[in-house]
Amino acid sequence: IIQVPDIDPSLLQIQNTESPKTRLPNSKLIFGKTFTDHMLTIPWTSASGWGTPVIKPYGPLELDPSSTVFHYAFTLFEGMKAYRQEDGTVRLFRPDMNMARMNRSAARIALPTFDGKALTELIKKLVVLDSEWIPKEKGYSLYIRPTLIGTQNALGVGPSSDALLFVICSPVGPYYASGFKPVQLLATTKFVRAAPGGTGGYKLGANYAPGVVPQAEAAKEGYSQNLWLLGEEHALTEVGTMNLFVAFRKPDGTVELVTPPLDDVVLPGVTRDSALQLAREHSDGQAIPGLPEKLIVSERKLIMADLVEAEKNGTLVEVFGTGTAAIVSAVDKIGYEGRDIIIPTGPEGLGPIAKGILDRITSIQTGETEHPWSVVASE
Ligand code: COI
Repeated sequence: IIQVPDIDPSLLQIQNTESPKTRLPNSKLIFGKTFTDHMLTIPWTSASGWGTPVIKPYGPLELDPSSTVFHYAFTLFEGMKAYRQEDGTVRLFRPDMNMARMNRSAARIALPTFDGKALTELIKKLVVLDSEWIPKEKGYSLYIRPTLIGTQNALGVGPSSDALLFVICSPVGPYYASGFKPVQLLATTKFVRAAPGGTGGYKLGANYAPGVVPQAEAAKEGYSQNLWLLGEEHALTEVGTMNLFVAFRKPDGTVELVTPPLDDVVLPGVTRDSALQLAREHSDGQAIPGLPEKLIVSERKLIMADLVEAEKNGTLVEVFGTGTAAIVSAVDKIGYEGRDIIIPTGPEGLGPIAKGILDRITSIQTGETEHPWSVVASE
């Protein structure tokens, strides 16, 4: 085996540090429409490994039309967030999780893997350079989009001999136009998001385009997102582009918070993992305001019959989605087999479990609560 170089942050070239673009006021931000002044690019070839990391003005990439990314979906991405405190401190949330997942995704489609710590160092440099773009207002942050594409110029289907890793950043507010208002789901059986043995557990670009038409069909029927089901039992998997949580009340008053297990149809979400860990810590005595005193947390299979039954018995407590973009998003209605399952929510839209978890996660992300998950970038 010939050893080729890994990503080396000490080689970083910063081509330009100017900040020429005008920033929009927070109220005008639409998710992922505005980008900061700079981007990071790192080329790779199979012969010489990872090349020189460059931070340069945000702008178009020049790619040959035969590049594998355009034909066979050699593309994967991550979503991360940076926050800026009043004193200027910039923080990233659990970047190690994104780096690990990005490497898993790369390995799945034969794109090159890399040293996640090295890429995190470079991302820190980028977000600190563009830190004036990070909104400070509550609910706002900088969305970071690391992306890896195959750039080999060839139409043969095979591993790409060339690749490009790039990172762009976008100041964002709440993901849904409706803010933290609950969303309505259409439980869809006509389409599947992911199948066993497929790629649903990897953050590949190819998983997202096929969800757009089902979402539009759901929207036509008055629902905001799809609830993705699988198999004859109608097992619940994900909601829209988010992981799914359902809370049930048991006869003894205990609340069970359930999320489908990580198999190959469920994406290993960073917010999913964070919500699970926080809810488990709550059960172990590190109480989170709003969460039920007696809470158990399960990763187990859920089927639509469980929800129908719970609605009938009045034991359906809450349903919500988790993801980096929206963080936590409450669900108040699920259209299923011609009728609507109605789900309780709270006074501010979010039910108490969703609200408790959202508040704890955001307080860690912003640095209000000190926690090892929040990593200072500006040091
Ligand atoms: C999420 O953060 O929930 C996402 O999946 C990001 C989305 C914009 C694709």
